Amino acid sequence: MLHYPLGDDADLRLLLPYHAEELAALVVRNEAYLGQWLDLARRFDQTKALALINEFLRRLADDGGIMLGIFHQGELAGMISNRWERAWKNSELTYLLGAEYQGKGLMTRAVKALTDYSFGDLALRRIEIIVQAGNEASAGVAKRAGYRFEGIRELSVGREDGAFDAEIYVALAPRWNRNGNN
Ligand SMILES: CC(C)(COP(=O)(O)OP(=O)(O)OC[C@H]1O[C@@H](n2cnc3c(N)ncnc32)[C@H](O)[C@@H]1OP(=O)(O)O)[C@@H](O)C(=O)NCCC(=O)NCCS
Repeated sequence: MLHYPLGDDADLRLLLPYHAEELAALVVRNEAYLGQWLDLARRFDQTKALALINEFLRRLADDGGIMLGIFHQGELAGMISNRWERAWKNSELTYLLGAEYQGKGLMTRAVKALTDYSFGDLALRRIEIIVQAGNEASAGVAKRAGYRFEGIRELSVGREDGAFDAEIYVALAPRWNRNGNN
């Protein structure tokens, strides 16, 4: 199996169609928590999980995106994706973690690893993390991973419940240092 280690207890793996059942189970049991911040997590099921995985496999084939599972001791704990515009070499990271896997630094490690990969093998130049204002846990991940706060895009996060301000965090290839100081 192809994997990218995140220390002794965790790794990143490309999400493939056979992961749909495990991904659906993770998101459905965390719907109340994740749904606060991601419409995607509302009314999720195995059909949607499979569609999402296949969408990202097509993006990968088209040089436009990748979605990885975050596995903790062999169990699917969360996911992280990056979607890019090849022409401009810019991209956007998105992620989620099951509530039971929080507080272990898994997402911070995953963001650093995918950022390294994106600036290295994928030769991207700019990566954004778009954090809905008030999502302190997500802002904490961005800051701990070494992303820099760039500013606020007012009312730019469109949700089922309305529009919200976004805090934009960025990493730039020329300044990237996985130990911070981006
Ligand atoms: C955003 C989200 C992934 C953050 O999860 P998280 O567990 O707080 O983040 P990490 O996995 O990086 O863990 C960081 C925590 O582990 C602690 N930690 C333990 N070991 C650590 C390590 N080796 N490295 C870094 N942090 C570590 C940190 O101190 C921090 O705890 P604190 O917040 O109490 O200070 C999660 O809350 C989530 O899925 N939210 C819903 C979906 C969402 O908002 N997605 C974002 C859309 S952009």
